Amino acid sequence: MAGMGDIHGLKAMDARSPLTLPRTVALVGLMGAGKSAIGKRLAMRLGLPFVDADDEIERAAGCSIAEIFEKYGEADFRAGERRVISRLLDEPPHVLSTGGGAYIDPDTRALMRAKAVTVWLRAELDVLFDRVRKRGHRPLLRNGDPKEVLARLMSQRYPIYAEADVVVDSTAQPADRTTEQVIEALRDHLHTEKTLA
Ligand code: S3P
Repeated sequence: MAGMGDIHGLKAMDARSPLTLPRTVALVGLMGAGKSAIGKRLAMRLGLPFVDADDEIERAAGCSIAEIFEKYGEADFRAGERRVISRLLDEPPHVLSTGGGAYIDPDTRALMRAKAVTVWLRAELDVLFDRVRKRGHRPLLRNGDPKEVLARLMSQRYPIYAEADVVVDSTAQPADRTTEQVIEALRDHLHTEKTLA
């Protein structure tokens, strides 16, 4: 093993050191991408708090996301989402799971890009559909065929999610494995960031 550092240089040394996050890690991606499942595991691994932006929005509004959509419409939901995420991004570093549309809103995206390391959990349609079909709480999937809605959102949103700092494929493999890949991708990104600074 003594030669590993010589062969792989700094990267091999990095792999043995704990990963310290200089700012919040914000997970983005479509409904069913695994933002909460991976986010919770990532927070555990990094020793950071886990925060779910949608839970915080519900707490602030005193009602569910579905009720916010019903009573006030999507535009008001996005405004509330922007305020809540802005507040959360001013808190000490944590792992932040954001709702699928948060990064699509230009102002929320600008905030996230300025104050967080953004990670897109990219998933294929079948993986997303398999994960969302068992639960009916998502307002956007109640209008029409959920698989068609997801496919439409993929074509609209994937070019925008692609602007995230880090991209990791979220597949049907165990969540712990994907979490490991997120950690390695973050390590690479932060290393590059530091080198370029
Ligand atoms: C939304 C995704 C949901 C929630 C709201 C809108 C979206 O969050 O914020 O229903 O626009 O994709 P999840 O991605 O956590 O399901």
